[in-house]
Amino acid sequence: MRIGNAASADELFDLVLEAAHEAVAYESASLMTVDAAGDALIVRASRPGRLVGTRVAVGTSISWQALERREPLIVEGPAPKELGTPYTKDVPFAICIPLLVAAKTQGVLNVNRQSHPGNDAIAYLRILGDQAAFAIERMELYGDLQHFTGQLLSQEEESRRRLARDLHDGLAPILVSAHAQLQSAGVENVQVGKATELLRRAIRETREILGTVRPATLDDLGLVAALSAAAREMADEAGWTLEEALDDPGPLSREAESTLYRVAVEALNNVKKHAAAHEVRLALLKNEETLEIDVGDDGHGFETEQWGEAGVRPGHFGLLGMRERVAFLGGLCKVQSKPGEGTTVRIVVPRERLR
Ligand SMILES: Nc1ncnc2c1ncn2[C@@H]1O[C@H](COP(=O)(O)OP(=O)(O)O)[C@@H](O)[C@H]1O
Ligand SMILES: [Mg+2]
Repeated sequence: MRIGNAASADELFDLVLEAAHEAVAYESASLMTVDAAGDALIVRASRPGRLVGTRVAVGTSISWQALERREPLIVEGPAPKELGTPYTKDVPFAICIPLLVAAKTQGVLNVNRQSHPGNDAIAYLRILGDQAAFAIERMELYGDLQHFTGQLLSQEEESRRRLARDLHDGLAPILVSAHAQLQSAGVENVQVGKATELLRRAIRETREILGTVRPATLDDLGLVAALSAAAREMADEAGWTLEEALDDPGPLSREAESTLYRVAVEALNNVKKHAAAHEVRLALLKNEETLEIDVGDDGHGFETEQWGEAGVRPGHFGLLGMRERVAFLGGLCKVQSKPGEGTTVRIVVPRERLR
């Protein structure tokens, strides 16, 4: 059933009412969900639509009674007295189907008509109610998961910032001053020469680690300028012609900014390490719904299928890490490559996940 494919809660609620209408042509219908506090039902979709947003506080309404009984409630004609509800309706038939998943009550589906639609139709509505309840449950779980991964990302980002600060303010100055001390000692022999060279390497490596942990430039310059600076530096070192087309991505959360930066720099690093390219193209495209970063080269390329289904080279974690990071943002990282025809890495992330 299509309701399993709904992209948003609103679409899901609408599809449920549409499916109900196909099964039993009704005069009016509504779908309500229990609010977070559990003390009211909120109309999330209705036909006609004017009731959306209405709150029905916990009480004797037939919707709440259906929820409490965990069984569909049918009312025909005037509401029977034993229900004890002030229910009055100008349609002679109403059914309230509670939406249940295990012990949990998600909401109710209400359908009102001129007459009883027959038992088959009611059986169908009950199945629809079950499907709707599952779909709502799944959507809620998915929302929780997104929230949770967002938290994970920001925790990781925080520890990266701390690590970057320690490296930058703790280790780096020690190395630099040791290097300066050695140079000013006025001693020249093989060992001192070697030690000086080793320290210089340690300084360079620390700088590189700093660059990947949390580039200071990202805070100062923002994603576009920081990416562009990193790409130009690499182009200078590797002798590429660099073509850039960088849209303004708009506001980004720190985590999103950092993830996009790191994944793009990782792709550029791969070009430097593996491609022997002449021309490299870096593009950032802001589309209506997505943000896309492309890193393309005209280098060696490689057989993407050679490492099997997952496309991961054993013992190499760069591409894998890129895919995982992008997946955290709900996006995709596609690699297109052929031996002799260069490589394009395309990162596509939904914009709603970037703020
Ligand atoms: N731009 C590229 N050009 C050519 N080969 C590439 C490119 N990017 C990746 N590769 C190939 O894919 C492999 C896996 O990349 P990756 O997971 O980043 O691992 P690593 O860079 O550590 O080798 C590389 O070893 C290389 O063979
Ligand atoms: Mg790599």
